[in-house]
Amino acid sequence: MKNTAQQFWELLYLFEDYLTGGYEQQREVPLLSLPGDACCDEKKACFSEAADEMKILEKEILTCRKCGLCGTRHLAVPGEGVLCPSVVVIGEGPGAEEDRTGRPFVGAAGKYLDKWLSAIDGDRNTNCYICNLVKCRPPGNRDPEEDEIEACLTYLVRQLDLLKPKVILAAGRIASQRLTGLDSGIGILRGKVYDFKGIPVVPTYHPSAVLRNQDLRRPVWEDLKQLQILLSGR
Ligand code: URA
Ligand code: SF4
Repeated sequence: MKNTAQQFWELLYLFEDYLTGGYEQQREVPLLSLPGDACCDEKKACFSEAADEMKILEKEILTCRKCGLCGTRHLAVPGEGVLCPSVVVIGEGPGAEEDRTGRPFVGAAGKYLDKWLSAIDGDRNTNCYICNLVKCRPPGNRDPEEDEIEACLTYLVRQLDLLKPKVILAAGRIASQRLTGLDSGIGILRGKVYDFKGIPVVPTYHPSAVLRNQDLRRPVWEDLKQLQILLSGR
C-alpha cells in the first residue's frame, strides 16, 4: 500500500512528464454545440437555449465598443469550449496570437495551459471552457486597466451564468484579484478556495509566469489537485 507522500510524488512525476515530455495535443475546432461532461439531465433540457444565448453573447463581444481596447484590438476573443463545462479557466486578456486568431490561449501560454488541463483530464473540447477577464488585447500586453476590466465584466458574468461551471480556475494575478475581490499578490492568493457568484474559484499562477519560472510548477500542481478535489466533490 502506498502512503500519501509516495502517491504525491508519483503524481508530481506524472505531471512533470506531461509538462516536459513533448506531449503535443492536436487541437480541434471548438465544439460549442456539445454539452460538456458536467451536463446533467436538467441542463440538457435547456441546452439549446443556452447555446443560442451564447451565440448572441459572442456576437455582442465581437462588435463591442464599450472600452478603449476596441480601438487597438484586431479581433475580440469571446472564449471557447463546451457548454456545461466542469471547469472555466479565466485568464487576463488576449495576447498577440489570440488577437490575430480570435481564439483564447492559443500561443505558448495556451499550449502549456492545455497540458495542465490534460493532466487532470480536462480539455477545451470535452469538459472545459476558456476565456479571459477582458476580451480584447491590451496594447503591448500591458495589464488591463480597472475601467476596462469593469466594462468587460458583464460579459464574463453572463458567460458564467450560461456555462454554470462546477469550478473556476483563475490564471494569474489579474484574474485572481478581480475574482476574489482581494489585492494581494498571487503567491498569497493561491492555496485557498474563494467564491465568485456562487462558483468556487481556485487561483493559480499564470502559465506564462510558470514558463518563465519552473519553480512555480509545484504550486500549480497543488492547485490543480485542489481543483480535482472540488470536481470530485470530496
Ligand atoms: N494570456 C491570457 O491571459 N489569455 C490568453 O488568452 C492568452 C494569454
Ligand atoms: Fe468591449 Fe471588453 Fe473589448 Fe472593452 S475589452 S471593447 S468591454 S469586449
